[in-house]
Amino acid sequence: MQIKMVDLETQFRVIEAEVRQRMNEVLETTTFINGPAVKNFSSELARYLDVKCVVPCANGTDALQVAMMALGLQPGDEVVVPDFTYIATVEVIALLRLTPVLVDVDPITFNIDPNRVADALSPKTKAVVPVHLFGQCADMDAVMDLTENRGIFVIEDAAQAVGARYSGQKRQGMAGTIGTVGCTSFYPSKNLSCYGDGGAIFTQDPALGKDLETVANHGQNRRYYFDKVGVNSRLDSLQAAVLSAKLPLLDAENEKRRTVAKTYDAGFADIPQIRTPQTAPFSTHVYHQYTIVVENQSLRDGLSQHLSSKNIPNVIFYPLPVHAQNAYKNPKYTDDKLPVSTRLSQTVLSLPMHAYLTDAQTSYVVENVREYFKKV
Ligand SMILES: Cc1ncc(COP(=O)(O)O)c(C=O)c1O
Repeated sequence: MQIKMVDLETQFRVIEAEVRQRMNEVLETTTFINGPAVKNFSSELARYLDVKCVVPCANGTDALQVAMMALGLQPGDEVVVPDFTYIATVEVIALLRLTPVLVDVDPITFNIDPNRVADALSPKTKAVVPVHLFGQCADMDAVMDLTENRGIFVIEDAAQAVGARYSGQKRQGMAGTIGTVGCTSFYPSKNLSCYGDGGAIFTQDPALGKDLETVANHGQNRRYYFDKVGVNSRLDSLQAAVLSAKLPLLDAENEKRRTVAKTYDAGFADIPQIRTPQTAPFSTHVYHQYTIVVENQSLRDGLSQHLSSKNIPNVIFYPLPVHAQNAYKNPKYTDDKLPVSTRLSQTVLSLPMHAYLTDAQTSYVVENVREYFKKV
């Protein structure tokens, strides 16, 4: 049986005619940069997210960088960020000479732990970056309550959670639309993705929206007049055309991912060495990844090998927390100070998850996971 971690091929067969037609329009009109396809997609995404401004850009990493630049963060400003995330979140903080303040995550949701955020705030804190990891929202009410009225910006990294909905006691909205600014990636494996690199930044604040546009466009408002130091970060029209073809499918695809997750949950429910992913009461889950926690590292690594031997792809997201990466080591951050992210990196395993998995494929994954735990 052939199973993929992400199946772009089957999805392409479903949307092929639409994608080809939209890409052809761009090819015929040669409006490759800043063409109508980009404007159309930005408005469609703004409507879908119910957000005032969407600024498209070249990738999710740029989205975070442009957000931090547009907010005027200065070298030495502290930015609180989870220790368990994709490196891009912390990389841009380092590149801008800001100071990353790494905090631990919640063991159940894998998202930033608001209690640790509270401990980490200082007079130098200028921003907090909750990452909506693996497809569900971080505890935004708690993060917003801690930062509001203190001049601290909240930059949501929604690269893995587009389409998830946050429904807190105080705040509601799509992932990325609750904080000061939201960032996302359209990297091909993301839930909403293009056929190359792409990203977007969103905000409910029109003045900030203007600044984001300016920074992403070399710092110019008017052609060849540069008011700020900016970057060149554009979503190109061909990618926007692909995204417009895919956006209408997103909710149904996310629903299908939830169905797959339910099958996995049921299949693993009686395996005591596995903890299946739990959804927080304040968020829907769009299962960018279906990530289990295995009792210990040797069982996790054994399961990974067993699945690979059965042709079942599986990935450890992430094998090292940020504080243990060579490029980001700092004596302040040790395994014992960040025990949850340290432990997660030793015990998590992500299984195949996409909207086109068949029942036979999910059953095959379940059977083989079960087979492994019968033997150990
Ligand atoms: C949580 C997170 N943040 C940021 C990024 C960066 O996005 P990109 O690869 O488009 O630069 C990614 C994905 O790659 C991600 O998963």
